[in-house]
Amino acid sequence: MNTAGNDEYISSADFYDYIPVYEGRSDIDYYVEQAEKTEGSVLELGCGTGRVLVPVARTGCEITGLDPSSAMLDICRKKLKEEDADVRERVTLIEGDMRDFNLGRRFSLITTPFRSFQHLETVEDQLKTLENVHRHLDDKGVFILDLFNPSMKYILDESRREEFGDEPPFYLPDGRKVTRKFRNPSVDLTKQLINCEMIYHVEHSDGKKERTVHSFKMRYVFRYEAEHLLERSGFRVLEVLGAFDGSPFGTSWPGELIITATLV
Ligand SMILES: C[S@@+](CC[C@H](N)C(=O)[O-])C[C@H]1O[C@@H](n2cnc3c(N)ncnc32)[C@H](O)[C@@H]1O
Repeated sequence: MNTAGNDEYISSADFYDYIPVYEGRSDIDYYVEQAEKTEGSVLELGCGTGRVLVPVARTGCEITGLDPSSAMLDICRKKLKEEDADVRERVTLIEGDMRDFNLGRRFSLITTPFRSFQHLETVEDQLKTLENVHRHLDDKGVFILDLFNPSMKYILDESRREEFGDEPPFYLPDGRKVTRKFRNPSVDLTKQLINCEMIYHVEHSDGKKERTVHSFKMRYVFRYEAEHLLERSGFRVLEVLGAFDGSPFGTSWPGELIITATLV
């Protein structure tokens, strides 16, 4: 679990914004569009380096980002320094945990971009978070739960117990060349937890090589399980999408699992 006392993103925060597949994700346009439709302010749970938060703030929306990783938030703060003053003024960053926060105010849009909710390892943590979302959402506000659609084919694939991946290398501004690989050393099918490793092979400009591993657990959540969790927590499901272009769930496989919900 990534908590304020154990910053599990510390080993990979520097790489995050340079990973080509992250740069190419189509979710930013989706979140910008949702924010533009919103009349009030936005709360992003697990805002990380501001990959989504900064473009949302540029639209003119006021946005609060909450994240337990000081390494990720530091990068976000640095990025905000490059923005115009009016963008910076619209952003509030809070080092905190989605399982336990109380900002004493409500938002018209609450989001969890790029699967931050899947860092929650137990149903208890999921319910605590949904209770917090419920308390912070306007009566007519919208909550967007952003998950990956679990594919049993990939989860059970034994070849993933060894290092795999064929992403092209990327370069950091200081010249380091980084090649990212993956490994899922084990899967707990009873707890729906995938042990994940993102392995960064780093080559410095002086030829020195190192290997950095970001280890974490992801809890996979199935479509109807997510809907039940939401309904149990006092939400009404509005829409279930399978991609950020608005395609309904199931039109591509495995695709995403994006659920919008409002208060009952
Ligand atoms: C994959 S990153 C997504 C960051 C950002 N939303 C984006 O779309 O690029 C997941 C983020 O969730 C955060 N996170 C993990 N556990 C969390 C928790 N309990 N509460 C809030 N954020 C958490 C991590 O620190 C990380 O920044």
